[in-house]
Amino acid sequence: MSPERCVHPETLDLLAATDPRAIRSRADLRRINRVMGTRGIVLRALRRTLATPARIIELGAGDGTLMLDLARRLAGDWPAVHLTLLDRQNLVTAQTIGAFHDLGWKVDILSVDVLAWLLQPIRERYDLALANLFVHHFDERQLPLLLAAIAERADAFFACEPRRTWLPLAGSHLTGLIGANAVTREDAVLSVHAGFAGTELSALWPVGNHGWHLREYSAGLFSHCFLALRQNG
Ligand SMILES: C[S@@+](CC[C@H](N)C(=O)[O-])C[C@H]1O[C@@H](n2cnc3c(N)ncnc32)[C@H](O)[C@@H]1O
Repeated sequence: MSPERCVHPETLDLLAATDPRAIRSRADLRRINRVMGTRGIVLRALRRTLATPARIIELGAGDGTLMLDLARRLAGDWPAVHLTLLDRQNLVTAQTIGAFHDLGWKVDILSVDVLAWLLQPIRERYDLALANLFVHHFDERQLPLLLAAIAERADAFFACEPRRTWLPLAGSHLTGLIGANAVTREDAVLSVHAGFAGTELSALWPVGNHGWHLREYSAGLFSHCFLALRQNG
């Protein structure tokens, strides 16, 4: 039995990128991804299911360092990827972009609110759209619009989100133990309350699943994953 889903604005999203509390909270996020085992969870899902994507977009990419970590492991099998990092804040440093280039990946930075992006005419299509700790920001009214926009633009979508069950909720109250600041401690709890369980994302995927293979599952101790693959995509 999962607690009822509720979405509240997270403090990190309200702070300027240069605010020291935000800078510190983004560093906490990197540690939280390590504790959640995000890299392994994402790599397992992607390697099992995708051949060699040429175009990838990450939604809510933050500073791009999680994607860089993934790219370092994937670049051997996935050379010459054209990657788009979308976030409403422009946080990706020249050093991070340079590290993608060193792997042979081309990078575009798209600094836009995803809710504005989904209203724009479709300019690019992607083999893979990826999101980590991002989809839970959106409420029941926004989620169908977001998922429909992704389905129109990508042949595969993978999201790794907080699992809205009691163990992750208990864990979210303990982020102080890894030195997280007040912003992260509060946002971690809000994130789990806004997270997902069961087949909630599959139920919101457009076109009644027609032409798509969907998988939704728990991963690690704290994560909830959703994978959508266009059949013959
Ligand atoms: C919890 S962080 C996750 C960052 C990164 N995916 C990671 O795992 O390190 C969520 C990110 O989503 C971005 N974000 C939140 N709402 C957004 C929106 N409506 N449009 C675009 N980006 C958004 C925030 O700026 C933030 O960088």
